[in-house]
Amino acid sequence: MTVLITGGAGFIGSHCCVTFLEAGHDIVVLDNLSNANSVSLNRVSAITGRKVAFEAADIRDQARLEAVLDQYGCSAVVHFAGLKAVGESTKDPLAYYDNNVVGTQRLLSAMAKCGVRQMIFSSSATVYGEPKYLPLTEDHPTSAVNPYGRTKLMIEDMLRDIAASDPSWRFGILRYFNPVGAHDSGLIGENPLGIPNNLMPFITQVADGRRAELSVFGKDYETRDGTGIRDYIHVTDLVEGHLRAHEVLASGAAPSNCFAVNLGTGTGYSVLEMVRAFERASNKEIRYSFAPRRDGDVAECFAHTAMAEKLLNWKAERDLDAMCRDTWNWVCKNPRGYETTAA
Ligand code: NAD
Ligand code: UD1
Repeated sequence: MTVLITGGAGFIGSHCCVTFLEAGHDIVVLDNLSNANSVSLNRVSAITGRKVAFEAADIRDQARLEAVLDQYGCSAVVHFAGLKAVGESTKDPLAYYDNNVVGTQRLLSAMAKCGVRQMIFSSSATVYGEPKYLPLTEDHPTSAVNPYGRTKLMIEDMLRDIAASDPSWRFGILRYFNPVGAHDSGLIGENPLGIPNNLMPFITQVADGRRAELSVFGKDYETRDGTGIRDYIHVTDLVEGHLRAHEVLASGAAPSNCFAVNLGTGTGYSVLEMVRAFERASNKEIRYSFAPRRDGDVAECFAHTAMAEKLLNWKAERDLDAMCRDTWNWVCKNPRGYETTAA
Protein backbone atom coordinates (compact mmCIF):
# COMPACT_ATOMS: atom_id res chain seq x y z
CA MET A 1 0.00 0.00 0.00
CA THR A 2 2.20 2.78 -1.33
CA VAL A 3 1.22 6.44 -1.72
CA LEU A 4 2.31 8.18 -4.93
CA ILE A 5 3.35 11.77 -4.16
CA THR A 6 3.47 13.89 -7.34
CA GLY A 7 5.58 17.03 -6.99
CA GLY A 8 7.08 15.47 -3.87
CA ALA A 9 10.49 17.10 -4.38
CA GLY A 10 8.99 20.60 -4.09
CA PHE A 11 8.37 22.83 -1.09
CA ILE A 12 5.15 21.39 0.32
CA GLY A 13 5.65 17.94 -1.22
CA SER A 14 8.99 17.35 0.51
CA HIS A 15 7.46 18.19 3.90
CA CYS A 16 4.57 15.86 3.11
CA CYS A 17 7.05 13.06 2.38
CA VAL A 18 8.50 13.47 5.90
CA THR A 19 5.09 13.39 7.56
CA PHE A 20 3.89 10.34 5.59
CA LEU A 21 7.14 8.41 6.14
CA GLU A 22 7.11 9.22 9.86
CA ALA A 23 3.51 7.96 10.04
CA GLY A 24 4.73 4.63 8.62
CA HIS A 25 3.45 4.95 5.05
CA ASP A 26 5.46 3.77 2.04
CA ILE A 27 5.79 6.44 -0.62
CA VAL A 28 7.10 6.97 -4.13
CA VAL A 29 7.80 10.48 -5.39
CA LEU A 30 7.23 11.43 -9.03
CA ASP A 31 8.56 14.86 -10.03
CA ASN A 32 9.96 16.36 -13.24
CA LEU A 33 12.22 18.68 -11.20
CA SER A 34 11.00 21.73 -13.17
CA ASN A 35 10.85 23.68 -9.89
CA ALA A 36 12.77 21.49 -7.46
CA ASN A 37 16.11 19.90 -6.70
CA SER A 38 16.26 16.20 -5.87
CA VAL A 39 18.62 17.02 -2.98
CA SER A 40 15.39 17.76 -1.07
CA LEU A 41 14.64 14.03 -1.13
CA ASN A 42 18.09 13.17 0.27
CA ARG A 43 17.22 15.52 3.11
CA VAL A 44 13.87 13.78 3.60
CA SER A 45 15.83 10.54 3.98
CA ALA A 46 18.21 12.19 6.45
CA ILE A 47 15.29 13.39 8.60
CA THR A 48 13.31 10.16 8.54
CA GLY A 49 16.04 7.53 8.24
CA ARG A 50 14.10 6.03 5.34
CA LYS A 51 15.06 5.82 1.68
CA VAL A 52 12.75 7.68 -0.71
CA ALA A 53 11.80 5.97 -3.97
CA PHE A 54 12.04 8.61 -6.70
CA GLU A 55 10.89 8.63 -10.32
CA ALA A 56 12.04 11.59 -12.43
CA ALA A 57 8.99 11.89 -14.68
CA ASP A 58 6.26 14.20 -15.85
CA ILE A 59 2.60 13.83 -14.90
CA ARG A 60 1.69 14.38 -18.56
CA ASP A 61 3.38 11.07 -19.43
CA GLN A 62 0.46 8.71 -18.86
CA ALA A 63 2.29 5.52 -19.84
CA ARG A 64 5.03 6.27 -17.32
CA LEU A 65 2.44 7.04 -14.62
CA GLU A 66 0.73 3.70 -15.22
CA ALA A 67 4.06 1.88 -14.99
CA VAL A 68 4.89 3.62 -11.68
CA LEU A 69 1.45 3.02 -10.14
CA ASP A 70 1.69 -0.69 -11.04
CA GLN A 71 5.34 -1.19 -10.14
CA TYR A 72 4.98 0.22 -6.63
CA GLY A 73 1.48 -1.15 -5.99
CA CYS A 74 0.10 2.32 -5.24
CA SER A 75 -3.25 2.61 -3.46
CA ALA A 76 -3.56 6.41 -3.32
CA VAL A 77 -2.12 9.64 -4.70
CA VAL A 78 -1.25 12.96 -3.10
CA HIS A 79 -1.09 15.38 -6.02
CA PHE A 80 1.13 18.45 -5.61
CA ALA A 81 2.71 18.62 -9.10
CA GLY A 82 1.86 21.75 -11.02
CA LEU A 83 2.88 25.30 -11.81
CA LYS A 84 1.94 27.95 -9.25
CA ALA A 85 3.12 31.45 -10.19
CA VAL A 86 0.14 33.75 -10.75
CA GLY A 87 2.01 36.36 -12.84
CA GLU A 88 3.58 33.72 -15.05
CA SER A 89 0.16 32.14 -15.60
CA THR A 90 -1.16 35.36 -17.17
CA LYS A 91 1.88 35.53 -19.51
CA ASP A 92 1.89 31.84 -20.48
CA PRO A 93 -1.58 30.43 -19.79
CA LEU A 94 -1.07 27.47 -22.13
CA ALA A 95 1.76 26.17 -19.95
CA TYR A 96 -0.63 26.29 -16.97
CA TYR A 97 -3.51 24.53 -18.73
CA ASP A 98 -1.06 21.93 -20.05
CA ASN A 99 0.83 21.22 -16.81
CA ASN A 100 -2.01 21.59 -14.37
CA VAL A 101 -5.21 20.61 -16.20
CA VAL A 102 -3.90 18.21 -18.88
CA GLY A 103 -1.37 16.80 -16.39
CA THR A 104 -4.09 16.09 -13.80
CA GLN A 105 -6.39 14.59 -16.45
CA ARG A 106 -3.60 12.19 -17.52
CA LEU A 107 -2.90 11.33 -13.89
CA LEU A 108 -6.57 10.54 -13.30
CA SER A 109 -6.71 8.45 -16.48
CA ALA A 110 -3.67 6.48 -15.36
CA MET A 111 -5.24 5.97 -11.93
CA ALA A 112 -8.49 4.78 -13.53
CA LYS A 113 -6.57 2.29 -15.66
CA CYS A 114 -4.59 0.96 -12.68
CA GLY A 115 -7.56 0.83 -10.30
CA VAL A 116 -6.19 3.54 -7.97
CA ARG A 117 -9.14 5.65 -6.90
CA GLN A 118 -8.04 7.91 -4.06
CA MET A 119 -6.48 11.34 -4.47
CA ILE A 120 -5.70 14.36 -2.34
CA PHE A 121 -5.45 17.50 -4.45
CA SER A 122 -3.59 20.77 -3.70
CA SER A 123 -6.11 23.51 -4.29
CA SER A 124 -5.91 27.10 -3.10
CA ALA A 125 -7.90 29.80 -1.36
CA THR A 126 -7.51 31.65 -4.65
CA VAL A 127 -10.64 29.74 -5.82
CA TYR A 128 -12.75 32.01 -3.57
CA GLY A 129 -11.85 35.11 -5.65
CA GLU A 130 -12.75 38.43 -3.99
CA PRO A 131 -14.15 37.52 -0.52
CA LYS A 132 -17.82 38.40 -0.12
CA TYR A 133 -17.53 37.72 3.63
CA LEU A 134 -14.90 36.59 6.13
CA PRO A 135 -13.82 34.12 7.39
CA LEU A 136 -14.12 32.13 4.17
CA THR A 137 -16.25 29.03 4.51
CA GLU A 138 -16.01 26.18 2.02
CA ASP A 139 -19.43 27.04 0.56
CA HIS A 140 -18.33 30.59 -0.30
CA PRO A 141 -18.90 31.14 -4.06
CA THR A 142 -15.90 30.32 -6.22
CA SER A 143 -14.42 32.36 -9.05
CA ALA A 144 -11.06 32.79 -10.71
CA VAL A 145 -9.27 36.03 -11.49
CA ASN A 146 -6.24 34.58 -13.32
CA PRO A 147 -5.31 31.47 -15.34
CA TYR A 148 -3.59 29.82 -12.34
CA GLY A 149 -6.76 30.10 -10.27
CA ARG A 150 -8.83 28.89 -13.21
CA THR A 151 -6.71 25.72 -13.50
CA LYS A 152 -7.37 24.99 -9.81
CA LEU A 153 -11.12 25.48 -10.28
CA MET A 154 -11.18 23.35 -13.46
CA ILE A 155 -9.39 20.53 -11.66
CA GLU A 156 -11.77 20.79 -8.69
CA ASP A 157 -14.72 20.54 -11.15
CA MET A 158 -13.10 17.56 -12.88
CA LEU A 159 -12.77 15.75 -9.54
CA ARG A 160 -16.38 16.53 -8.55
CA ASP A 161 -17.64 15.20 -11.91
CA ILE A 162 -15.63 11.98 -11.64
CA ALA A 163 -16.74 11.44 -8.02
CA ALA A 164 -20.39 11.92 -9.04
CA SER A 165 -20.01 9.43 -11.90
CA ASP A 166 -18.65 6.60 -9.75
CA PRO A 167 -18.85 6.34 -5.95
CA SER A 168 -15.71 4.21 -5.74
CA TRP A 169 -13.54 7.30 -6.33
CA ARG A 170 -12.46 9.23 -3.23
CA PHE A 171 -11.20 12.80 -3.45
CA GLY A 172 -10.01 15.25 -0.81
CA ILE A 173 -9.65 18.78 -2.18
CA LEU A 174 -7.51 20.83 0.19
CA ARG A 175 -7.69 24.61 -0.19
CA TYR A 176 -4.47 26.06 1.18
CA PHE A 177 -4.24 29.57 2.54
CA ASN A 178 -0.64 30.90 2.68
CA PRO A 179 1.90 28.14 3.43
CA VAL A 180 5.18 29.38 4.96
CA GLY A 181 7.86 28.05 7.34
CA ALA A 182 10.13 25.04 7.05
CA HIS A 183 10.85 21.75 8.79
CA ASP A 184 12.28 22.47 12.25
CA SER A 185 15.48 20.55 11.41
CA GLY A 186 16.38 23.29 8.89
CA LEU A 187 17.09 20.54 6.32
CA ILE A 188 14.17 21.23 3.98
CA GLY A 189 12.34 24.44 3.12
CA GLU A 190 11.19 26.73 0.35
CA ASN A 191 13.75 27.24 -2.40
CA PRO A 192 12.37 29.83 -4.84
CA LEU A 193 14.21 30.38 -8.11
CA GLY A 194 14.73 34.01 -9.20
CA ILE A 195 12.95 36.96 -7.60
CA PRO A 196 10.35 35.68 -5.13
CA ASN A 197 6.71 36.63 -5.81
CA ASN A 198 5.43 35.76 -2.37
CA LEU A 199 5.87 37.77 0.80
CA MET A 200 7.73 35.40 3.13
CA PRO A 201 10.50 34.39 0.68
CA PHE A 202 10.98 38.07 -0.18
CA ILE A 203 11.25 39.12 3.47
CA THR A 204 13.74 36.30 4.00
CA GLN A 205 15.95 37.60 1.21
CA VAL A 206 15.88 41.12 2.66
CA ALA A 207 16.89 39.70 6.04
CA ASP A 208 19.86 37.81 4.58
CA GLY A 209 21.00 40.77 2.47
CA ARG A 210 20.14 39.40 -0.98
CA ARG A 211 17.55 42.15 -1.56
CA ALA A 212 17.82 45.76 -0.40
CA GLU A 213 14.23 46.25 0.73
CA LEU A 214 10.70 44.90 0.59
CA SER A 215 8.05 46.70 -1.46
CA VAL A 216 4.85 46.67 0.58
CA PHE A 217 2.08 46.50 -2.02
CA GLY A 218 -0.56 48.99 -0.86
CA LYS A 219 -0.93 51.00 2.35
CA ASP A 220 -4.55 52.12 2.04
CA TYR A 221 -6.52 48.89 2.30
CA GLU A 222 -9.38 48.90 4.78
CA THR A 223 -7.41 46.86 7.28
CA ARG A 224 -6.04 47.67 10.75
CA ASP A 225 -2.77 49.14 9.41
CA GLY A 226 -3.68 49.64 5.74
CA THR A 227 -1.67 46.63 4.45
CA GLY A 228 -3.00 43.31 3.13
CA ILE A 229 -4.01 40.61 5.58
CA ARG A 230 -3.49 36.87 4.92
CA ASP A 231 -3.82 33.59 6.78
CA TYR A 232 -0.25 32.23 6.98
CA ILE A 233 0.03 28.56 7.91
CA HIS A 234 3.12 26.58 8.91
CA VAL A 235 3.95 24.02 6.21
CA THR A 236 4.29 21.27 8.84
CA ASP A 237 0.73 21.92 10.04
CA LEU A 238 -0.40 21.96 6.41
CA VAL A 239 1.07 18.55 5.60
CA GLU A 240 -0.29 17.08 8.84
CA GLY A 241 -3.68 18.11 7.42
CA HIS A 242 -2.86 16.01 4.35
CA LEU A 243 -2.05 12.99 6.48
CA ARG A 244 -5.39 13.34 8.28
CA ALA A 245 -7.24 13.75 4.96
CA HIS A 246 -5.50 10.65 3.61
CA GLU A 247 -6.52 8.65 6.69
CA VAL A 248 -10.12 9.88 6.56
CA LEU A 249 -10.41 8.99 2.87
CA ALA A 250 -8.73 5.59 3.27
CA SER A 251 -10.95 4.63 6.23
CA GLY A 252 -14.12 5.48 4.30
CA ALA A 253 -15.12 7.84 7.15
CA ALA A 254 -15.65 10.88 4.92
CA PRO A 255 -19.26 12.07 4.65
CA SER A 256 -18.97 12.12 0.85
CA ASN A 257 -16.58 10.73 -1.75
CA CYS A 258 -15.43 14.23 -2.69
CA PHE A 259 -14.91 16.94 -0.09
CA ALA A 260 -13.27 20.36 -0.24
CA VAL A 261 -11.81 21.71 2.97
CA ASN A 262 -9.82 24.79 3.99
CA LEU A 263 -6.35 24.42 5.46
CA GLY A 264 -5.61 27.66 7.28
CA THR A 265 -5.24 28.88 10.86
CA GLY A 266 -8.26 31.18 10.87
CA THR A 267 -6.08 34.14 11.89
CA GLY A 268 -4.89 36.86 9.54
CA TYR A 269 -1.71 38.93 9.80
CA SER A 270 -0.91 42.12 7.91
CA VAL A 271 2.23 42.64 5.83
CA LEU A 272 3.66 44.95 8.51
CA GLU A 273 2.89 42.41 11.25
CA MET A 274 4.78 39.82 9.20
CA VAL A 275 7.74 42.19 8.86
CA ARG A 276 7.87 42.75 12.64
CA ALA A 277 7.51 39.04 13.42
CA PHE A 278 10.37 38.23 11.07
CA GLU A 279 12.53 40.94 12.63
CA ARG A 280 11.95 39.34 16.04
CA ALA A 281 12.85 35.87 14.74
CA SER A 282 15.94 36.90 12.79
CA ASN A 283 17.18 39.83 14.83
CA LYS A 284 17.64 41.67 11.53
CA GLU A 285 16.07 44.88 10.32
CA ILE A 286 13.68 44.36 7.39
CA ARG A 287 13.85 47.56 5.34
CA TYR A 288 10.69 48.32 3.40
CA SER A 289 8.96 51.04 1.45
CA PHE A 290 5.39 51.37 0.27
CA ALA A 291 4.51 50.65 -3.35
CA PRO A 292 1.20 50.68 -5.27
CA ARG A 293 -1.28 47.85 -4.76
CA ARG A 294 -0.52 44.68 -6.76
CA ASP A 295 -3.09 43.80 -9.44
CA GLY A 296 -5.45 41.06 -8.32
CA ASP A 297 -4.69 41.39 -4.59
CA VAL A 298 -7.55 41.38 -2.11
CA ALA A 299 -7.46 43.37 1.15
CA GLU A 300 -8.04 40.48 3.49
CA CYS A 301 -8.32 36.70 3.29
CA PHE A 302 -8.53 34.14 6.09
CA ALA A 303 -10.09 30.76 6.61
CA HIS A 304 -13.07 29.43 8.48
CA THR A 305 -11.55 26.36 10.12
CA ALA A 306 -14.54 24.53 11.60
CA MET A 307 -14.94 22.05 8.75
CA ALA A 308 -11.28 20.95 8.93
CA GLU A 309 -11.62 20.47 12.70
CA LYS A 310 -14.78 18.40 12.34
CA LEU A 311 -13.99 16.41 9.21
CA LEU A 312 -10.26 15.86 9.69
CA ASN A 313 -9.97 16.30 13.45
CA TRP A 314 -7.13 18.66 12.54
CA LYS A 315 -6.19 22.14 13.61
CA ALA A 316 -3.07 24.21 12.88
CA GLU A 317 -0.90 24.39 16.00
CA ARG A 318 2.22 26.38 15.11
CA ASP A 319 2.15 30.14 15.64
CA LEU A 320 3.60 33.02 13.65
CA ASP A 321 6.83 33.07 15.68
CA ALA A 322 7.41 29.38 14.85
CA MET A 323 6.74 30.07 11.15
CA CYS A 324 9.35 32.87 11.12
CA ARG A 325 11.88 31.03 13.32
CA ASP A 326 11.79 27.87 11.20
CA THR A 327 12.04 29.84 7.95
CA TRP A 328 15.07 31.73 9.27
CA ASN A 329 16.72 28.54 10.55
CA TRP A 330 16.34 26.94 7.09
CA VAL A 331 17.76 30.00 5.30
CA CYS A 332 20.71 30.37 7.68
CA LYS A 333 21.61 26.71 7.23
CA ASN A 334 21.09 26.81 3.43
CA PRO A 335 21.91 30.34 2.28
CA ARG A 336 21.58 29.40 -1.38
CA GLY A 337 18.85 26.81 -1.01
CA TYR A 338 19.77 23.33 -2.21
CA GLU A 339 22.02 24.51 -5.02
CA THR A 340 25.32 24.97 -3.26
CA THR A 341 24.86 22.83 -0.19
CA ALA A 342 26.03 19.27 0.19
CA ALA A 343 23.42 16.52 -0.15
P1 NAD B 1 6.63 23.67 -5.79
O1 NAD B 1 6.84 24.32 -7.11
O2 NAD B 1 7.71 23.76 -4.78
O3 NAD B 1 6.23 22.13 -5.99
C1 NAD B 1 5.61 21.65 -7.16
C2 NAD B 1 6.43 20.48 -7.64
O4 NAD B 1 5.82 19.91 -8.80
C3 NAD B 1 7.87 20.85 -8.03
O5 NAD B 1 8.75 19.98 -7.38
C4 NAD B 1 7.91 20.69 -9.55
O6 NAD B 1 9.18 20.29 -10.00
C5 NAD B 1 6.83 19.64 -9.77
N1 NAD B 1 6.17 19.68 -11.08
C6 NAD B 1 5.62 20.76 -11.70
N2 NAD B 1 5.07 20.38 -12.87
C7 NAD B 1 5.24 19.04 -12.98
C8 NAD B 1 4.89 18.08 -13.97
N3 NAD B 1 4.26 18.43 -15.09
N4 NAD B 1 5.22 16.79 -13.74
C9 NAD B 1 5.88 16.41 -12.62
N5 NAD B 1 6.26 17.28 -11.66
C10 NAD B 1 5.93 18.59 -11.84
O7 NAD B 1 5.27 24.28 -5.19
P2 NAD B 1 4.61 24.08 -3.76
O8 NAD B 1 4.59 25.42 -3.12
O9 NAD B 1 5.20 22.94 -3.06
O10 NAD B 1 3.11 23.78 -4.22
C11 NAD B 1 2.62 22.45 -4.35
C12 NAD B 1 1.17 22.51 -4.83
O11 NAD B 1 0.40 23.28 -3.91
C13 NAD B 1 0.98 23.17 -6.20
O12 NAD B 1 -0.01 22.45 -6.89
C14 NAD B 1 0.49 24.56 -5.85
O13 NAD B 1 -0.33 25.11 -6.88
C15 NAD B 1 -0.33 24.28 -4.60
N6 NAD B 1 -0.45 25.47 -3.74
C16 NAD B 1 0.67 26.08 -3.28
C17 NAD B 1 0.56 27.23 -2.48
C18 NAD B 1 1.79 27.92 -1.96
O14 NAD B 1 1.65 29.06 -1.48
N7 NAD B 1 2.97 27.34 -2.00
C19 NAD B 1 -0.73 27.74 -2.18
C20 NAD B 1 -1.84 27.08 -2.67
C21 NAD B 1 -1.71 25.93 -3.46
C1 UD1 C 1 -0.47 34.62 -3.89
C2 UD1 C 1 -1.35 34.43 -5.10
C3 UD1 C 1 -2.28 33.26 -4.85
C4 UD1 C 1 -1.47 32.00 -4.53
C5 UD1 C 1 -0.54 32.29 -3.35
C6 UD1 C 1 0.38 31.15 -3.08
C7 UD1 C 1 -1.58 36.61 -6.16
C8 UD1 C 1 -2.50 37.75 -6.46
N1 UD1 C 1 -2.08 35.64 -5.37
O1 UD1 C 1 -1.30 34.84 -2.77
O2 UD1 C 1 -3.08 33.02 -5.97
O3 UD1 C 1 -2.32 30.92 -4.20
O4 UD1 C 1 0.27 33.46 -3.66
O5 UD1 C 1 1.27 30.95 -4.12
O6 UD1 C 1 -0.45 36.57 -6.65
N2 UD1 C 1 3.22 41.39 -0.58
C9 UD1 C 1 3.96 42.54 -0.49
N3 UD1 C 1 5.19 42.57 -1.07
C10 UD1 C 1 5.72 41.49 -1.73
C11 UD1 C 1 4.95 40.30 -1.81
C12 UD1 C 1 3.70 40.30 -1.23
O7 UD1 C 1 3.52 43.54 0.09
O8 UD1 C 1 6.85 41.59 -2.26
C13 UD1 C 1 1.90 41.34 0.08
C14 UD1 C 1 0.74 41.07 -0.86
O9 UD1 C 1 0.24 42.27 -1.41
C15 UD1 C 1 -0.25 40.37 0.08
C16 UD1 C 1 0.65 39.61 1.07
O10 UD1 C 1 1.93 40.27 1.00
O11 UD1 C 1 -0.98 41.32 0.81
C17 UD1 C 1 0.83 38.14 0.73
O12 UD1 C 1 1.27 38.01 -0.63
P1 UD1 C 1 1.71 36.62 -1.27
O13 UD1 C 1 2.70 35.97 -0.38
O14 UD1 C 1 2.12 36.87 -2.69
O15 UD1 C 1 0.40 35.73 -1.19
P2 UD1 C 1 -1.07 36.01 -1.79
O16 UD1 C 1 -1.15 37.27 -2.54
O17 UD1 C 1 -2.03 35.82 -0.66
